[in-house]
Amino acid sequence: MKQNIVAEAYDQISGQYDRWYDTEDCQRENGMLARLLEGLEPPVLDLGCGTGLLLDLGVIGSRQYIGVDVSSGMLAQAAVKHPAARWILGDIEAIPLPDRSVRSVVSLFGAMSYSQDPARALSEIMRVIQRSGMVFLMFRRPAHRQKASYIFHGSAMPMRYYELSDLFTLMEGHPTWEVTPFEDGDWIITGRSE
Ligand SMILES: C[S@@+](CC[C@H](N)C(=O)[O-])C[C@H]1O[C@@H](n2cnc3c(N)ncnc32)[C@H](O)[C@@H]1O
Repeated sequence: MKQNIVAEAYDQISGQYDRWYDTEDCQRENGMLARLLEGLEPPVLDLGCGTGLLLDLGVIGSRQYIGVDVSSGMLAQAAVKHPAARWILGDIEAIPLPDRSVRSVVSLFGAMSYSQDPARALSEIMRVIQRSGMVFLMFRRPAHRQKASYIFHGSAMPMRYYELSDLFTLMEGHPTWEVTPFEDGDWIITGRSE
């Protein structure tokens, strides 16, 4: 049910979403992100792909990419920009892909933080990723509440904010994974699947 609220909210703003990336702050963050994402191994699954930021960053080709999102509006915008990519309507907690079908799994900015059951989302990621595949997942930090740039400030979106201890709990069973703060509002988890 909460997923419907999120999908509808993103459907409504999908036509304007990319304008947000024109701001100086976002361009600086995206430049940093592009450098961190160099070397992704295909095929790459982008969870909560939105309008296709990962392809916009130019770190991976369209034909090596699969984007999954709950918002058909966001996917429609993405497909206009990158028609050769594969766009799938679906939920991070029930990824509509076969077992061991992707080499890298990425989730940028808020997508993972909307998940109501992050442990289930993580177990789905582990199901679809190949052995020794690359994981790059962003989660919102509490400090993100103060960021002026967030599109849905003041709305009732079911966003969860993660303390470092929450992520350590989530990452139990993945002792080699690392967490680093990204700028002033997010965490990044990186690692390889077992
Ligand atoms: C802040 S946007 C980020 C979009 C893109 N990753 C980016 O960085 O521009 C969050 C996206 O996550 C999607 N999303 C939220 N909950 C989701 C879920 N449970 N499964 C799949 N996508 C979800 C939303 O529809 C939205 O497109």
